[in-house]
Amino acid sequence: MGKCYPTVSEEYQKAVEKCKRKLRGLIAEKHCAPLMLRLAWHSAGTFDVNTKTGGPFGTIRHPDELAHGANNGLDIAVRLLEPLKEQFPNLSYADFYQLAGVVAVEVTGGPEVPFHPGRPDKSDPPPEGRLPDATKGSDHLRDVFGHMGLSDKDIVALSGGHTLGRCHKERSGFEGPWTPNPLVFDNSYFKELLSGEKEGLIQLPSDKTLLEDPVFRPLVEKYAADEDAFFADYAEAHLKLSELGFADAD
Ligand code: HEM
Repeated sequence: MGKCYPTVSEEYQKAVEKCKRKLRGLIAEKHCAPLMLRLAWHSAGTFDVNTKTGGPFGTIRHPDELAHGANNGLDIAVRLLEPLKEQFPNLSYADFYQLAGVVAVEVTGGPEVPFHPGRPDKSDPPPEGRLPDATKGSDHLRDVFGHMGLSDKDIVALSGGHTLGRCHKERSGFEGPWTPNPLVFDNSYFKELLSGEKEGLIQLPSDKTLLEDPVFRPLVEKYAADEDAFFADYAEAHLKLSELGFADAD
């Protein structure tokens, strides 16, 4: 079943292409791919499939939503992007933030995630508490991602996003990167997870729970052994995440 995307004007499509190039430059210059991916994910991950509220509709830039505990530090991402957004006044913030997430994965060597424009900006921020808690286990992950409408496979593939970036004590209370190369998108998150805890690297309780679950663990092993399989499933899951609540199925 395909999705039915809105048609955008030729001018809008051109702005998307140009903005994509500018985002590549900004992200390369500022080394901020991890923060941009986290922004896009926290923007989309508030979608609730039952009430059709939340989701990737630009609300995360509002102070109310930035003040959610899970979003600590994302004000920096919003601020970094603002001068570029000003150059593209016609683009929705909704599209702009999701494009930044797609570009972050691409420029760090990850898979190409398809991008379809046309998300509207919405005004109502979601309630706090829809994003996952790093101290909890697999029931919690299934509950939270289930509310987004995402599957077990999506949970494991998307968790591989922690191939990028790090935890900051002052933002989440945790400290350190998941991999030795946090600016490269590859399958090293899964390799590190399987090889156990190491000095200088972090494994959150919510990462380690992937090893203990009978459905999650085989996927961790598959992605550690086969980067192409990870990239294919990651691209599919990221595409879904970036389009939660956007473009109804036929
Ligand atoms: C599975 C549930 C998840 C939990 C519990 C979780 C939790 C966290 C925590 C605690 C941090 C550290 C924030 C900080 O201190 O700066 C973090 C960072 C990050 N997360 Fe997740 N996360 C999850 C899923 C995801 C997903 C699905 C993605 C993207 C596909 C993602 C991408 C990132 C990135 C890129 C960073 C690094 C940000 C930076 O370096 O500034 N995470 N996550």
